[in-house]
Amino acid sequence: MFVVAGSGHGKLGRSLAKELGAEVCGVINRRFADGERYVRLLENVKGSRVIVVQNTFPDDNVVEMLLLLDAAREAGAKEIRAVIPYMGYSRQERTFRDGEAISSRAIGAAIGSMCDSVYTISIHAPKVLDFFGVPSQDISGTRAAAEYLQKNGVDLIVAPDEGARKRCEEAAEILNVDCHVMSKNRIDDRNVEITMGDLNPKGMNVVILDDIISTGGTIATSAKMLKEGGAASVSAVCTHGLFIEDAANRLRICDELMCSDSIESVHTRYSVSSVIAEALK
Ligand code: R5P
Repeated sequence: MFVVAGSGHGKLGRSLAKELGAEVCGVINRRFADGERYVRLLENVKGSRVIVVQNTFPDDNVVEMLLLLDAAREAGAKEIRAVIPYMGYSRQERTFRDGEAISSRAIGAAIGSMCDSVYTISIHAPKVLDFFGVPSQDISGTRAAAEYLQKNGVDLIVAPDEGARKRCEEAAEILNVDCHVMSKNRIDDRNVEITMGDLNPKGMNVVILDDIISTGGTIATSAKMLKEGGAASVSAVCTHGLFIEDAANRLRICDELMCSDSIESVHTRYSVSSVIAEALK
């Protein structure tokens, strides 16, 4: 079995290969003078099972994923499994206004047509799994987050919106603490209104848990409210840290930011490799 890691996933690919007892397949990954991508697998994967690990964010990674899948197929792999740690475009799993694309369907169908199965991690909208057209599974990143938090002295888990309720309740149960769900109203791409509801966070060490930090608006607004309410500390944990534009700056209000390695960054604190390996075994 071989693990082929996309350009952003060297470390995650190596951990995954180790956990699965697989070999890491070297890849030449470069660009032509005009900016087009070139990939070449450096191992003979003919007749082998191949796991390709690549995000569909940012856009450029979609192209890299398709080329890696095609290279594995061309080289005669027996079975190709696509692991998408962060499935970009999963927030457009339907049209919100006439004339829009169902973006995750367009990307998902292309990927699914080139592999035998697809695995995602804490996907924003499970509906997206239907678009791959091959067997697919979403692996929860919540347990990895909660296990990492176990050493952090958490008093309360906060879900910034209804969409985060299930994963926050799961984390709170693992940590044996309470969970509080806030209510969110999105004003535009960068700004949200949060209503805290019936909560007195005074003196508590609070962790806000979400699937994605994009512009940071959701976490920053929630954290401000919790701090104003007297929380002793407010940290944020999320599976996918995108940190768009000045997100890191907006999030300075948080005492700590902790993200998984689905997107490797300076905020990566824990790995989802074990939960992926478990699902793939
Ligand atoms: C949306 O419902 C997601 O779960 C996240 O809350 C959202 O994507 C975070 O975006 P931002 O950081 O831009 O507020």
